[in-house]
Amino acid sequence: MNRSRSSLVHQATYAFRHPHKIAPHLRRLARDTWFRLRTRDHVSYYRAVMKSDTARDPEGAVGSHTHKRWLALGRMQFDYLVEHGLKPDCRMLEIGCGNLRAGRLFIDYLHTGNYYGIDISPDILMAAQDTLVTHGLRDKLPHLTPVRDLRFAFLPDRHFDVIHAHSVFSHSPLEVIDECFAHVGRVMKPGAWFDFTFDRTEGKEHHVLREDFYYRTETLVALAARHGLNAVFMEDWERLPHKQSKIRITRAAPA
Ligand SMILES: C[S@@+](CC[C@H](N)C(=O)[O-])C[C@H]1O[C@@H](n2cnc3c(N)ncnc32)[C@H](O)[C@@H]1O
Repeated sequence: MNRSRSSLVHQATYAFRHPHKIAPHLRRLARDTWFRLRTRDHVSYYRAVMKSDTARDPEGAVGSHTHKRWLALGRMQFDYLVEHGLKPDCRMLEIGCGNLRAGRLFIDYLHTGNYYGIDISPDILMAAQDTLVTHGLRDKLPHLTPVRDLRFAFLPDRHFDVIHAHSVFSHSPLEVIDECFAHVGRVMKPGAWFDFTFDRTEGKEHHVLREDFYYRTETLVALAARHGLNAVFMEDWERLPHKQSKIRITRAAPA
């Protein structure tokens, strides 16, 4: 976790060790350069990335290259939140819900209408509708909404018991996370918690192609504090077979 994947030395060493990955990486570089030139901000850029990836394979677009892995990653997220106190009567907001890799399990478990999934990609939300049909979840009436930012302006105050964002901030520049922290407290009920994963580095913070972002834990903890939020590194998540780390946010008690 100390390496910077954006350093030239790292990239050259990696290419030398994995020559078969050079051509796909160059294709991704060309595609991402094209998207960056055609879009005005990070969200529009990443929406274009998701459109392209979803057209190829919706499960691959959320990061699972086999269906078995898609099922396992969803289950890991679900089991963790249930172990930590998620109950069927909770109202849950999932930020960057994708094609409901975990959302399908949350929707099935929660009372009808208690699941809210938001995402910047209309394409992946259409794939999410397919997941609802495939898994027989129509009757649970989940809310699936495309968004252009993380200000939650259309959602009511103090509404959610649990907020969840898996593998979303690993694709987000700091200003997107800052915007989320600035507004998320308003929609959290007293006692609510907000879990998110991130790609952790112990070295220099960096990004790869503006698709993958690596942060130090203390950067995110300090950012949360600036918005009156407590952030705790979740040690028990580290024992699970997943490359990202997890932080839990709660609203700091008024002084
Ligand atoms: C790697 S996928 C993970 C999807 C889902 N959380 C899961 O675990 O299956 C990341 C998702 O976050 C969405 N996303 C990225 N940036 C976002 C943002 N700023 N606001 C909302 N959604 C975002 C993407 O469109 C994509 O669906």
